[in-house]
Amino acid sequence: MKVLILGSGAREHAITWKYSKSRRISGLYIAPGNAGTGELGLNLPEVNPEDPAQVIEACKEYEITHVFVGPEAPLMAGVVDELSKAGIPAVGPHKAAAMLEGSKIFSKEFMKRHSIPTADAREFTEKADFETYIKNKEGSVVIKQDGLAAGKGVLVSDNKEELLNFGNDILKSEKLIVEQCLTGYEISIFALTDGKNYKLLPVCADFKRAKEGDNGPNTGGMGAICPVPYVNSSIISEIEEKIIVPTFKGMSQENLNYAGVLYFGLMMTEEGPMLLEYNVRFGDPEAQVLIPLIDSDLGNITDALINQTLDEYNPRISNNAALGVVVASGGYPGSYETGKQVKPIPVYPEKDALIFHASTTEDESGHVLTGGGRCFTCVGIGANILKANARAYEAVKTVKFEGAWCRTDIGKKFFANEKTI
Ligand code: AMP
Ligand code: GLY
Repeated sequence: MKVLILGSGAREHAITWKYSKSRRISGLYIAPGNAGTGELGLNLPEVNPEDPAQVIEACKEYEITHVFVGPEAPLMAGVVDELSKAGIPAVGPHKAAAMLEGSKIFSKEFMKRHSIPTADAREFTEKADFETYIKNKEGSVVIKQDGLAAGKGVLVSDNKEELLNFGNDILKSEKLIVEQCLTGYEISIFALTDGKNYKLLPVCADFKRAKEGDNGPNTGGMGAICPVPYVNSSIISEIEEKIIVPTFKGMSQENLNYAGVLYFGLMMTEEGPMLLEYNVRFGDPEAQVLIPLIDSDLGNITDALINQTLDEYNPRISNNAALGVVVASGGYPGSYETGKQVKPIPVYPEKDALIFHASTTEDESGHVLTGGGRCFTCVGIGANILKANARAYEAVKTVKFEGAWCRTDIGKKFFANEKTI
């Protein structure tokens, strides 16, 4: 198996790390990759993952047998459609199914068509209609940009001025939806799917806000845990029955099936689980905590997805817990500088801690430099999330560059009483 992984984030480093442990692998390539993935396989920094022609060319040159797509943008650019025409199997959806993530209007209509519990929503294209609606609305509402926005297209607020500014700005170039604000706690559930069958992976939760105590602006994600301690099997059964089964049934009816990962972003409300969104890929930073807990060989999982044999394949999952802390550039999620030297280059014990790079590069002298807003995810692994938390923060201490910062409370809201574990 010669695998090409598309992307450059810590999620793609985690995917690359897992493939690098596979006995099925005879070649590992990452486009464009980062300094961490470069230690495990061959980075192809000249290949733009969002340009299907460049991806196909790289596949031919390196005789790639399988492609694993990390982020959403290449999926929306139709990279899987083109790979499929070229006869190269890919883990990830074709463009039509990627719309489940790529358009909030499309996904909301899909949820309604298949009676999947979700917040009530209205679509707007005209500024005047939108303004009248907001002016007459009481309390908090949620505005969502229709298209992809890298985590920045959603505003939850009860401040009319803020809502109007945010929405009017979107309406200059695209549509939006305004939806009912739900309260509860959020979890992320990932399903592996081969297009006919699915298998659920352990439940994760991510920490989206920039500041301690889940305050401040939304980010791509400042940390994650897996599993979530109080989500038991009866909660999972309810989510499966009300949301997951109807989703896969709906996808079959509408020819939206694919081989890959489907992510359900859920709000657990007093009325039961409600679906906030679909993502058609692994989450970041959820992948960094989920993937280390998969004991099975990722090459074999890839085979089961591509060959549609997931019904007879049960991925082995570790009994451990994992917790990931994102180390970000000074200023993120606002403006930030890149090119800061990471010194010393972080090393980790692998067994109970991992450090995944995001968008780092290596210069000619072998120095590792930062290249993005979120720079590393430090993952601790242990018998429970408290132990995993301690190990993750030990790993954080080894990541040093000018301006580096992280949230210090990842996982904390799930620790009932620290002394009891
Ligand atoms: P989405 O991209 O749809 O997942 O939205 C991003 C984030 O906005 C979610 O993770 C939630 O924290 C928040 N959010 C989205 N929809 C709602 C809603 N209907 N009620 C409350 N919060 C929401
Ligand atoms: N962690 C949320 C996402 O990947 O979209």
